[in-house]
Amino acid sequence: MKALTLKKYHKSAPVIEFSDVPKPTIKPNEMLIQVYAAGLNPIDNMIPTGTFKPILHFKLPATLGSDLAGIVTEVGSQVTRFKPGDAIFASIFDLGIGSLAEFAVVPESAAALKPANLDFVQAASIPMVGLTAWQALKERANLKAGQKVFIPAGSGGIGTFAIQLAKHLGATVATTTSTHNVELVRSLGADTIVDYKKQAFEAELNNYDAVLGTTRGDTIEKSINILKPGSKIISLVGPLDAAFARARKLNGILAFVFGLMSLKINRLSKKKGVDYSFLFVRPDSSQLSEISKLLEAETIKPVIDKVFPFEHAKQALAYLAEGHAKGKVVVKIHD
Ligand SMILES: NC(=O)c1ccc[n+]([C@@H]2O[C@H](COP(=O)([O-])OP(=O)(O)OC[C@H]3O[C@@H](n4cnc5c(N)ncnc54)[C@H](OP(=O)(O)O)[C@@H]3O)[C@@H](O)[C@H]2O)c1
Repeated sequence: MKALTLKKYHKSAPVIEFSDVPKPTIKPNEMLIQVYAAGLNPIDNMIPTGTFKPILHFKLPATLGSDLAGIVTEVGSQVTRFKPGDAIFASIFDLGIGSLAEFAVVPESAAALKPANLDFVQAASIPMVGLTAWQALKERANLKAGQKVFIPAGSGGIGTFAIQLAKHLGATVATTTSTHNVELVRSLGADTIVDYKKQAFEAELNNYDAVLGTTRGDTIEKSINILKPGSKIISLVGPLDAAFARARKLNGILAFVFGLMSLKINRLSKKKGVDYSFLFVRPDSSQLSEISKLLEAETIKPVIDKVFPFEHAKQALAYLAEGHAKGKVVVKIHD
C-alpha cells in the first residue's frame, strides 16, 4: 500500500517520501482501517525533526500522520465495539503507526464512531485538537460556567476547537489573533479578541481562571500577569515538566531535565498562586465519543482551512508548517 513515510530524522531536512509498504497487520485489540482522510497537526512536522525521539519511539521507515477517519475493514479477536464497515475516527500519533496511508492500525481504545453528520474530511480534522482541548479545559482546568479562560491563537487548529468547547462549558473566552482572523474567532464565540499584531494581551486582560498555552515564545510567562490566584496554566507547548516525565514513565534523567526546564515557569507561577502544568494529549475512545456528540449536535463545528489530495501530502505538511492555518489542514486519501 502507499504511505507517506519518514526515512531519516533530521533537524532541518528530514527524509520524507512516499513508499510502497506492506499493509499492516493487527493485534487482537486492534482494527485495520481503510483511511479516507488524515488530519494534520504540528506534531506531524515535529516528529521528523527528532524533537520527540526521547518520548515517542518509531521504527524507521515510519508512516507519518496522527489523525484519521475511515472504514473498519478488519477487527481483532478482542474488539467488541466495532465491526467491519463501521465509519470511525481516531488519533493514533502516540502509537508508532501513521495515518497518512491507504490503511492504518487503530486500537479499539483510541477509536470512536464517526459523527454521522460529518464527512470523512471533517471528521479527520477533529481527533487530536478535540482530545487536547477536552483534556486541557475539562480534565485539567475543570473549567466551569462563569469562569474566564484565555486561549491564545484562536484561529489555529487547537484554538478553533477550544474556543467552541470553552463556550459550551459556559466560560468567557479571550483569544489572540491577527486582524484578518478577527471575524473567524468572533464567529466561534470568542468574547474578547486581542489583535496580537497591534495589542499586547497582558495589557488588555485580567483576572482569568485559566490559560491554554498554545503559542511558543514568552506568551506563557506573560500570561501569569492576567491570572488570579488559584488559577491554572495548561501548556501544550512546554516547558515540559517532571510530572509529565513521571506520567509517561520516562527515566529519572529525563524527569530531572524536564524538572529543570520548568523550574522558572513553576517559580513564577507559584509566586502568583498559579498552577502550571504541561499537557501531552493521549488517545481516548470515550472522550472522542463525547466529542462526537457535540459535533452531531453542532455545538462544535469543524473549521477546515485546506484539503490536499494524498499525492500532495508533503505540500500539506509544508503548508501547515508555515504556521498560519485557519483551522485544520486535511489530506484526502480515498473518495
Ligand atoms: N501538547 C500536546 O499534546 C499538543 C497537542 C496538540 C497541539 N499542540 C501544540 O499546540 C500548538 C498549537 O497547535 P495548532 O494545531 O493550533 O497549530 P496551528 O493550527 O498550526 O496554529 C496556527 C495558527 O496559530 C496562529 N498564531 C501563530 N502565532 C500566533 C501568535 N503569536 N498569536 C496568536 N495566534 C498565533 C496563526 O494565526 P496567524 O496566521 O494570524 O498568525 C494560525 O492561525 C502547536 O505548537 C502544537 O504543537 C500540543
